[in-house]
Amino acid sequence: MPTDDPRSASGFTDADAAALYDVLCPWDARRWPGDAFYEPLVLAADAVLDVGCGTGAMLHAARRHGHTGRLTGLDPDRASLERARRRTDVEWVPGTAAEAAWDAEFALAVMTGHAFQCLVSDDELRASLAAVRTALRPGGRFAFETRHPQARAWERWSPEHATEVVDASGRRLRVWHETLSVGDGVVTFTETTATPGGRVLRRATTALRFLEPAALDALLRAAGFTVEAVYGDWARGPVTAESREIVTVARRP
Ligand SMILES: C[S@@+](CC[C@H](N)C(=O)[O-])C[C@H]1O[C@@H](n2cnc3c(N)ncnc32)[C@H](O)[C@@H]1O
Repeated sequence: MPTDDPRSASGFTDADAAALYDVLCPWDARRWPGDAFYEPLVLAADAVLDVGCGTGAMLHAARRHGHTGRLTGLDPDRASLERARRRTDVEWVPGTAAEAAWDAEFALAVMTGHAFQCLVSDDELRASLAAVRTALRPGGRFAFETRHPQARAWERWSPEHATEVVDASGRRLRVWHETLSVGDGVVTFTETTATPGGRVLRRATTALRFLEPAALDALLRAAGFTVEAVYGDWARGPVTAESREIVTVARRP
């Protein structure tokens, strides 16, 4: 989550942004159906690779809930990974999905929190899927979700949907998103963190890919996955014209 302004003149650092992510998006399988979807998959797998693990909250929870096997988190964002390292009984590896260099080591790979949508270009998607497939043992599974483009989530990324939060150090903050462009399945937007009075502390720009189900299916099959299940919601319902998510469980044959 690097800022657009590396000088961080505001004093709001990358480490602050990583800590704020955990306040805004706490991992909690008791509260969030998406987190509850992944929890049993993770606890049942003896070796788990969390691709785009961010601050590591999912793997922290897996260890807390009794996972005794191998847990590995991979993420290119240094500040997030630094925060993840607060737990030392999990392996933390810097890098992108495409840089994953394991060979047939994991029973399960996951990309949670829409991390899959950070894979923007077709080339990056292909290289990432190939690397994740290679990291899995034969029979191993890859579970992830991506927002369904038909729900047009980006239309709600605007200042009137700002969230007010108190960060870990007690600062009151206001966070909002603003869509900059939509085209060719790629949405770019800013995330702004400000004081309640509106003084901007940080603004970061991100691009996310929104894939149609058929395009996603074709990419997975071309990468050598079989598609075990595709759901349109966290209760394992089918993908319909109302679905907001595409939740996929793919398998390395
Ligand atoms: C929205 S966060 C999700 C974090 C975490 N998985 C969760 O569920 O809260 C997306 C994460 O994907 C990471 N990311 C961005 N590009 C990536 C890439 N090419 N490969 C792997 N991870 C990437 C980001 O650094 C960020 O930590």
